[in-house]
Amino acid sequence: MTTLPDSLADLLSRRSQKMVRAPAPDATQLRQILEAAVRAPDHSSLRAWRFALVEQQDIAALTDIAIEASRRSGMQIKPEKEKNMRAWLSQVPLLIGLAYKIQHDNDRVPEIEQTLSMGAAVMNIQNAVHLLGFSCYWSTGLGTYTDEVQEALGFDALDYRFVGFLAVGTPISPPEPVQRIDPMTLTHVWKPTPVPQ
Ligand SMILES: Cc1cc2nc3c(=O)[nH]c(=O)nc-3n(C[C@H](O)[C@H](O)[C@H](O)COP(=O)(O)O)c2cc1C
Repeated sequence: MTTLPDSLADLLSRRSQKMVRAPAPDATQLRQILEAAVRAPDHSSLRAWRFALVEQQDIAALTDIAIEASRRSGMQIKPEKEKNMRAWLSQVPLLIGLAYKIQHDNDRVPEIEQTLSMGAAVMNIQNAVHLLGFSCYWSTGLGTYTDEVQEALGFDALDYRFVGFLAVGTPISPPEPVQRIDPMTLTHVWKPTPVPQ
């Protein structure tokens, strides 16, 4: 790649990193990160995005709720997996619970657009976290698809879609190199079908 602006080079260097520790972004940085979230494209200005901040001292309590809710929902969590999950989360300094307020019969904004706007907000968060020198990791583990977990976070299951957590903090180790796909292999140029003469 030639002459890449610094801002784009920074963006292209983003990687998800699961293993993070303190410090988390401070209050000012967290606000900046959330400012990026609310710049997501938003048809009809629904402002459906919602975020639940779970600070380090409260993550163990949420982990208990998530493990119990997952088991109650029929998910098998072996002791080894539980141990690993608890060890990972015991280091994470901040979880951001991610939800959006769903409008089931909005004539102008179908549900897919509401979902996409939430995805865009989460992506903006991930980029802002990275640009501030932190790392994060989007997980839909931790009982994301149980009503209990989302309701414990304050998101009534009738009104909100819960789409998981971002684990945010300072990366424990440098990111491993990754080979990204050539985007041109995913892209084509459309041309109109020639009209027969
Ligand atoms: C909605 C969503 C949910 C995800 N949930 C998980 C998850 O539960 N466990 C997991 O290992 N990766 C999960 N991932 C993938 C990671 O967050 C991450 O994107 C992936 O490891 C690729 O890393 P990269 O962002 O550096 O390309 C999820 C991604 C998305 C978009």
